[in-house]
Formats: sequence, C-alpha cells, structure tokens
Amino acid sequence: MPNAIAPAFKEFTEVHDPELLKPLLDPVISHLIYNAPETLVGLLKQHGSPLNLVWPHAFQANATALQALLNQFGIRHAIFYGAKANKSQSLLAAAASAGFGVDVSSVHELDAARRAGTPAEHLCATGPAKTSAFHRALVREGSLICVDSMEEFDHLKSLVESLPPPVKARVLLRYRPLDCPSSRFGMSANDLLLCLQRLAELKDMFHFEGFHFHLGGYAFETRVQAFRELGGFVDAAREMSLEPKMIDIGGGLPMRYIDPQAYASFLQNNNQPSHYHNQKVPESFYPYGSPLSACQWLAMFLEAPHSPGQSIATYLKEQNITLALEPGRSLVDQAAISIFRVTRSKQLANNKTVIFIEGSSFSACETWFSSEYLVDPILISTQESAPTPMRAYIAGHSCLDDDVITHRLIHFSTTPQPGDLLIYANTAGYQMDLLENQFHRHPLPQRLTATCCTQGHYAFSPDY
Ligand SMILES: Cc1ncc(COP(=O)(O)O)c(C=O)c1O
Repeated sequence: MPNAIAPAFKEFTEVHDPELLKPLLDPVISHLIYNAPETLVGLLKQHGSPLNLVWPHAFQANATALQALLNQFGIRHAIFYGAKANKSQSLLAAAASAGFGVDVSSVHELDAARRAGTPAEHLCATGPAKTSAFHRALVREGSLICVDSMEEFDHLKSLVESLPPPVKARVLLRYRPLDCPSSRFGMSANDLLLCLQRLAELKDMFHFEGFHFHLGGYAFETRVQAFRELGGFVDAAREMSLEPKMIDIGGGLPMRYIDPQAYASFLQNNNQPSHYHNQKVPESFYPYGSPLSACQWLAMFLEAPHSPGQSIATYLKEQNITLALEPGRSLVDQAAISIFRVTRSKQLANNKTVIFIEGSSFSACETWFSSEYLVDPILISTQESAPTPMRAYIAGHSCLDDDVITHRLIHFSTTPQPGDLLIYANTAGYQMDLLENQFHRHPLPQRLTATCCTQGHYAFSPDY
C-alpha cells in the first residue's frame, strides 16, 4: 500500500540549481524538488542515503509517445522494454500496463517480468550466454528466444529434443552486421544462412519468427545499414519456405538529460583538464544533450531509404513485417532520481576540495567506465548561511583515490554542508543500480516508487 509521507517537521531548506549542466526535469519531479524539498530531507532520514525514487508515470509518458509515433507511421510493431536498464519492479509493471513486452536477459528478469504481469509470450530473451535453466523456462512458457550463435542453436535443439512433444521453441536469429566483425554478439552472414537451412529442416521443433540485432552506440544510421543488410536474409528465408514476420532492431534509442545547446557549450568551454581534480578529461561520454529525442530518432530511422524510392517504413508495410524495438534507457527517461546526503567536505593539499556523500560510485556509476555523468546535481541546503560559491569533486565511502562519484569539479553557488542533499536527476537508465553492492557492508540503497496523487501530494512505497 502506498505510504503517504507528510513532512514531519518543517525545517530550513533551499534549492540551488547547478550553474552548468542543469538537468531537464519532468514537471512532477520538479514540483516535488522545488516545492517540497523538506519531503526529500524527511525521506532520507527515514530510508537512508542514497535513496532512489522511481517514477512510473515518466515511463508511461515515454511509452505513450513511442506508441503514438509508431501508430502515426502505421506499421506493425512490438516493443520489448529492455529490463536490464533498471531493477525496479514498478517500471516493469508500467511496461506491462502499457501493453509492452519485456526484453529479458536472465531467468531472474524473466521471473520479475512475469511477476509484474507480462504474459510469457510477450517476453523476448536476448544475450549470448543464456543458461539451460533460462532456455528451459523460455521454451516451456512460449517466449521468444533470440538465438545468438550456431552453438546456442544446437543447445536449444538438444533441449527441445529432450522435452516431451509437442514442443516448439519460438526463435529470432541474431545477426552480426558487417561493420562489427569482431563483436561477440550475433551470427555472421554464413552462420545465419546455415541456421536458416537448419530451421527449414526442423519445423516441428522450431517456430522461426524473424531476425534481431542490437548495436552499440546511439546512431540511427548504423541501424538503417544493419536493417538493409537483413533484406537479403528475409528473401532467403522465404525461399526456404520459412516465414519471417519480425525484425527486431534492439535498443540504443537516445535520450536527453540536458538541453542540447547547453551541452554543446559545456563541451566546448567547460571541459578542459583544469575542470577535473585529476586533470584528466575522459575520452568519451554518453551524448547527454542528444540532438535527437527517442521519437525523432525513430522517425529518422523509419523515413530512411531502404532501397531507391522505398523507406524502411514502406518496406515493413509491403513485406508485412513487424518492427520490434528493445528500448531500455530511453523508456526510463526521467523515471528516477537518486539523492545523496552530504557527510562533510575536506580541503586537500593541492588546493582542491572534495565533498563526501553517503553512498558510492556504485550508485552513480559512470566513473567505473572511465567516463563521467555530465549532469550536475541539484543542491538542497538545510542550513541558513551566507552564499559561499565553491568548486569541489564528489566522493563516497569507497577507499580508492580513483573511485569517486565525479572527478569533475562541480560549481556550487553555496558550499554544501553536512546534512544537505545532492539530487542526481534522471538516473533510472543504468545509472542508479547497475553496479550497486554492499561494499563496506553498507546496505543496498532503498528504492521507493513515487507517485503524485493530487497536485502537490506525493505517495512513496517500497519498490520490490
Ligand atoms: C540486446 C539488447 N537489447 C536492448 C538493450 C537496451 O539498450 P538501451 O538501453 O540502450 O536502449 C541492450 C543493452 O545493452 C541489449 O543488449
């Protein structure tokens, strides 16, 4: 049952926006931060730091926008939420209530999606390392399986043979596009053809449904190229009397954390070695100020030419093929914030300041990828004091010099004090819980589902 939290005490709070990389904020979340910051202070007193607040309404808004765009193009489509992006059960429930399927990469994600109400036939299993137990559950429940290799195909065949008939595995074949020959994911053109031949001979064991790929990076152009490469395999499958009905282009739709112009200006003017306490600018960043939203990206993909005079959307319609997508990060855009409480700050010998927070980089994990989360935190001051602007990098409770939340020196319009809060916005996509652990035996951060009941009234309940 949702547990409405009224601020138990009214204490001093003041919200300070970051000067540089100001996060774009969902209006409901923004209303809570700017109008009821004392609620957040109270929640951290109750649930500890860091605290993850998960907002399913943001998932719903992203889902509605994506659906509307696909309907506008009039193509058959299937969306599988990439559940690896976040461990929240309430976001899985939001996917189920949007009528989306779920892309699952383990038997545990499968169980969680089923608990959230997703029918088994709306699950699509991806990844090259599926275990026997996972395969067995997928076959038993009638879920779709993206076969990653000939080796996986053989494994699946032995499994189906070992089960009492009639039983069939529903499969897509994962293609490895030409420009990523050394990737460990997917099959080469030769293996794909071999697999199609085997499928044509084993129709009593397999139900072949189509093709799949998922690419790194966030460019729609690479997906267009891979999609075009699959055209010949669709034809080849039909010549073998197979019926490809689906092409699943995976995830990788971009999302926007901050205004694109502000981001471009930051990269140009405020991203030199002197802006980092360790004097090192990371080599690459996620495109935090993506010029394209997820829907614009998808529209560009669908409008791109498949062949002269024929767009990808037209190809899909003419060939009667369903476009499947597996968005993870972009579906959870705005769907969580992570809040850390400040422990203290410390002056260092090199004239730099570090702010310690309760938590660790395992709950804000970009530095583990030699990168940085280029979204600045919002500061909630809890003590009245004269403004004292400063710059500091931010570290948690782990014990290595390089293990920090951010190496970047963040500008604060006033110095964060013990007990103040730092709010990191938009952390649902891989940020908040991908690497979380119990280092130093700190308990795992709590996750609360947040809902806005009526204007200005919020409810928070444990998110299991
Ligand atoms: C097979 C597959 N599908 C979907 C996704 C989700 O990608 P994103 O969160 O970038 O949309 C991933 C992410 O690694 C993936 O490996």
